Amino acid sequence: MLAMNYRGPFRVRVDHKPYPEIQHPSDAIVRVTRSCICGSDLHLYHGLVPDTRVGTTFGHEFIGIVEEVGADVQNLKVGDHVLVPFNIACGSCPFCLQELYGNCHESNPEATAVGGIFGYSHTAGGYDGGQAEYVRVPYADVGPMVIPADLHPDDAVLLTDVVPTGYQAAEMAGIKPGDTVVVFGAGPVGIMAAKCAWLFGAGRVIVIDHLEYRLDFVRTYAQCEAYNFRSMNDPVLFLKKTTDYFGADVCIDAVGSDAAGSALQTITGRKLMLQAGSATALHWAINSVKKGGIVSIVGVYGPTDNLIPIGNVVNKGITIRANQASVKRLLPKLIEHVRAGRIDPKAIITHRVPLEEVSDAYHIFSAKLDNCIKPILIPPSARV
Ligand SMILES: NC(=O)c1ccc[n+]([C@@H]2O[C@H](COP(=O)([O-])OP(=O)(O)OC[C@H]3O[C@@H](n4cnc5c(N)ncnc54)[C@H](O)[C@@H]3O)[C@@H](O)[C@H]2O)c1
Ligand SMILES: [Zn+2]
Ligand SMILES: [Zn+2]
Repeated sequence: MLAMNYRGPFRVRVDHKPYPEIQHPSDAIVRVTRSCICGSDLHLYHGLVPDTRVGTTFGHEFIGIVEEVGADVQNLKVGDHVLVPFNIACGSCPFCLQELYGNCHESNPEATAVGGIFGYSHTAGGYDGGQAEYVRVPYADVGPMVIPADLHPDDAVLLTDVVPTGYQAAEMAGIKPGDTVVVFGAGPVGIMAAKCAWLFGAGRVIVIDHLEYRLDFVRTYAQCEAYNFRSMNDPVLFLKKTTDYFGADVCIDAVGSDAAGSALQTITGRKLMLQAGSATALHWAINSVKKGGIVSIVGVYGPTDNLIPIGNVVNKGITIRANQASVKRLLPKLIEHVRAGRIDPKAIITHRVPLEEVSDAYHIFSAKLDNCIKPILIPPSARV
């Protein structure tokens, strides 16, 4: 089958790989109909995630048709069109029982932090992902959901990660009616976080990025204010001034380890790798939230140390909340938001690329060319 193949930092290509097989009676094999490239894949692509092995296939955002099921699978049948949450979750460990599906203890038993994630290096379990024609889906009775007939497949594929992650960013931020919410990052996740902030009653939503085309998009899509940090001397001072010097009630980090904006962080985090990526957006979030405020982090960082102003966290009495999104927990309510028209996920898709051109798609998305916001990959069988 055709599959994306990681060859090393900034080098991916499409190759022929063996068709995946059922390895456990609770597995299913899914024929992919759409997959996305995510900002999280860029951390892998840029070589920032430890134990990203050459030869692996990325892709944790995908939907597809069930081709084969293991002997124990009861909830799926061959031919079902399913959306598959990016978290691989067993459904029965103590963490899954608390609906912390991103922290499953069984799907990534070598780790004590994150659970299994499709196509996200051996630090997240070493599972191959869905930027391929076929993918093996473990615990098939737990994660996958049959796509309701009235849900567009383009909306469905964005419900596997981007929409739940943006929503959970706003949820973890504990937004109260009238709150001022600052979102760092106007990528797909930040755009959704800004959109969802209003659903929690925000009174003012401000997005910070440095890509004008994304700032333009989010202003319209999420009806918010949006500012370019390159046009200000100090984004923290700007945010303090615009909040009567109190600071924002909540700040959301939707950037993670690839952040730009600080030479020190970029050199130590992204070039020399003396820390787990650049923590610039998180730094700004901590320094621009008000005393007693909440910083919600969905931006992804590597599993070692980062330079963050922990003294300010203590002295300001900040609450930090963070996690991988718990997709399965959020799906029922998010599907209702999509049905009601409160969220239009597919509006963020800018590029539809044949799977065979995966290398170009990574380059365009990584270099932010051609006004790219969200690229989706379409395998040959889904194009007929
Ligand atoms: N926690 C989760 O469950 C989860 C799920 C999906 C994605 N993520 C993470 O969310 C983050 C965003 O994902 P995405 O797909 O939107 O990525 P993306 O790369 O498309 O967007 C990131 C945006 O941040 C902007 N940016 C860079 N430096 C900045 C700074 N200092 N301040 C403000 N903006 C800055 C970039 O210009 C870009 O527009 C990534 O770290 C990704 O790994 C987390
Ligand atoms: Zn993702
Ligand atoms: Zn579990």
